[in-house]
Amino acid sequence: MTISGIEGRFSLVTIDRKNFINNFSRDVKSGLTSESKHLPFVYFYDHAGSQLFEKICGLPEYYLTRTETDILEANADDIVSLFTGETVLVELGSGSSTKTRILIEAFLERQRLAHYTPIDVSHKILEESAYSLLEAYPDLVINAIAARYNEGIDHLNILKEQQNLITWLGSSIGNFNRSEVTDFLRHLQKIMLPNDRFLVGIDLKKEKTILENAYNDTQGVTAEFNLNLLTHVNRELGGNFDVDKFFHKAIYNEEIGRIEMYLISHIDQKVFISELDLEVSFMADETIHTEHSFKYSPDDINALAEETGLYVEQQWFDTEQLFSLNLFAPAAD
Ligand code: AVI
Repeated sequence: MTISGIEGRFSLVTIDRKNFINNFSRDVKSGLTSESKHLPFVYFYDHAGSQLFEKICGLPEYYLTRTETDILEANADDIVSLFTGETVLVELGSGSSTKTRILIEAFLERQRLAHYTPIDVSHKILEESAYSLLEAYPDLVINAIAARYNEGIDHLNILKEQQNLITWLGSSIGNFNRSEVTDFLRHLQKIMLPNDRFLVGIDLKKEKTILENAYNDTQGVTAEFNLNLLTHVNRELGGNFDVDKFFHKAIYNEEIGRIEMYLISHIDQKVFISELDLEVSFMADETIHTEHSFKYSPDDINALAEETGLYVEQQWFDTEQLFSLNLFAPAAD
């Protein structure tokens, strides 16, 4: 894709793609040879997976995107008004950047946006969304980083002269377990300067049926998204998974407060992954745990901030109290 007028307004750095493939091999091998099989959710997001996720965001059962968008639309102006000077908007797991447009527009209206720095594992999605943003907003400058969050934030140029608004939307935080989240937030807190802020969308604990319906949609898009993980293994690592011989299931584990997503083998079967020289046996009904999506209560959110050297400066909810948007600030030493 080429569009005119973007010269000097777009850069993209890719952090260690080779490492990404090596990690993929290592993670698939260890996940499929362990006693209860699992695969890391991060490998959902190849190009097809990222597109399927966009489709999930528009599903009637998947209230997360709709409610977060409502909160952003109702409060973008207030959020942006907290930033008095030139601001760099950083986004973790930016995907198509659809919701971010609400913030970008609010910033541009006040002419305070210096740069937008999206961080995502898919460089193709980064390119596609950057081109469409640059076309829509002639004053926007984008410095994209293709990386995982942890590696991506180490490449941020956090400068004293600017304020940084780091956003993590869509409740992606829920895909990490508590110790991963606290490690990541402590790391982020160390990078943040006193005037920087962290805006994070977090899905709330609620009735089991609402949650399970959101992850077992009637059109089968979430099932396709989950099964695409096997197609990704086939393509990158020479696997011969027959995707039709597995099915998708998501359950809400109330005790832990998380959605658990599984791929389940229909039959006894063997799968060969040539790049790993690995044969994997499955029994009928055996599961591969592919994702968890933790849900938080407002108290959980406060506790998380406190544990990581941050505090909740402001918090917004949708009218049905399904979802929360939280502005974290670094706590004074
Ligand atoms: C990206 N992440 C926050 C989504 C979630 O809700 O955990 C991924 C997803 N998995 C199934 N549906 C959506």
